[in-house]
Amino acid sequence: AEKKMWGGRFRQKTAALVEEYTESVSYDKNLYKQDIAGSKAHARMLARQQVITQEDADSIVSGLDAILKEIEDGTFQWKTEYEDVHMNIESRLSELIGDAGKRLHTGRSRNDQVALDFRLYVSDSIREWQELLKGVVAELVKQAEEHVDTLLPGCTHMQPAQPVSLAHHLLAYAWMLQRDFDRLADCDKRARVCPLGAAALAGTTYPLDPASVAEELGMYGTFKNSMDAVSDRDFVLESMFAGSLVMTHLSRLNEELVYWANPNFGYIYLPDAYATGSSIMPQKKNPDVSEIMRGKVGRTYGALMNLLTTVKGLPMTYNRDMQEDKEPFIDTDKTVSASLAIMAGMLSELRFNTARMEEVLKQGFLNATELADYLVGKDVPFREAHHITGAAVALAEDKNKGLEDLTIDEFTSVSDLITDDVYEVLSYKNAVARRKTQGGTGPDAVRAQIAELNDWLS
Ligand code: ARG
Repeated sequence: AEKKMWGGRFRQKTAALVEEYTESVSYDKNLYKQDIAGSKAHARMLARQQVITQEDADSIVSGLDAILKEIEDGTFQWKTEYEDVHMNIESRLSELIGDAGKRLHTGRSRNDQVALDFRLYVSDSIREWQELLKGVVAELVKQAEEHVDTLLPGCTHMQPAQPVSLAHHLLAYAWMLQRDFDRLADCDKRARVCPLGAAALAGTTYPLDPASVAEELGMYGTFKNSMDAVSDRDFVLESMFAGSLVMTHLSRLNEELVYWANPNFGYIYLPDAYATGSSIMPQKKNPDVSEIMRGKVGRTYGALMNLLTTVKGLPMTYNRDMQEDKEPFIDTDKTVSASLAIMAGMLSELRFNTARMEEVLKQGFLNATELADYLVGKDVPFREAHHITGAAVALAEDKNKGLEDLTIDEFTSVSDLITDDVYEVLSYKNAVARRKTQGGTGPDAVRAQIAELNDWLS
């Protein structure tokens, strides 16, 4: 058996089951890039501070570069005996360069090392999500540009409410995702802070210079308290929350795509590349991609709950429980990244059945509010106007037609204030166009949103 790096005081071998139970290398090897970058920065700083010689630092840096290459070429031998990514890399370094490699861990503990690696890893993921978010927003904006004048029924309670522009509807999602982007930028500020120098928990006796390490690694600053630095996992939790919220927003959009694809709605044509068929029913084209994405939200919520529960009772400072922080995040990362990339692709190929939307628009008395406002314009108090309009809706429903199809005589039977000019008011297009105020569904207000988002994207 190979000697453990911490094995000095041990007389017995680790039980085989314990070795398997406690290892993390099978998944924390994902952090190899961050581990190597952190170790290189640490070694250079140790030399600057004259804790190790420049020769030793140089040989550590080239040794670590060689290891990086081995890992990326797939020739690196990961060993469970070495527990985690940190000890796997460090032991290989000593194998490659001898004593200099054994000096790397001076003034450092795996506790501040793993915190550093994971902070960089989470921050790198956050930044990737941000790029992908922009990709989805760009597709939503592109579709919106095509559909400023396409109308569909806007709903509340999933019931027809008022006509809206399809662009407006799609841009609602763009703004959600834009806020997610900002939320992630905020998470990044706290994640990308350097804990190196906290050592095991109490700081170190060596004259380290954490600020220079932070700078080399492109981090925003350094830790304030060594005990907090090795035991805080807030940065993982808030990033998983922000990722879960991204998934929530995608899920709402997916929910709409699923029912829009149902022929009873028939608003969209699902792109073949983003749909699947049925093994028995030849006519089927199923929105499985949207369903799976909606389903995967459960993983990200679960991951968040998992880690919240793991850390809730932890005393100061580092506790091994915290090793359980990686898998939930890695799974969330995979889910969020893949979902955003696929959503961008699906949106870019999505086509809308605008004729069908127009047909449906006429079926839900979506212009009833317009009639009420028209009566208010003729000095009828709104509550009364609401009542009169309700009677007009009931009449139209009896006659099996839309409000705009009622004759003037029919209107007059409800209120003699209604005259010929009502028809212009009842037009769906005009109803949308009249909502000119900032953030409304009128075409100019929608174009203003598009301009603002395009600005933000560039
Ligand atoms: N694999 C460990 C983790 O992920 C690294 C830190 C271990 N530190 C320790 N003192 N056992 O948390």
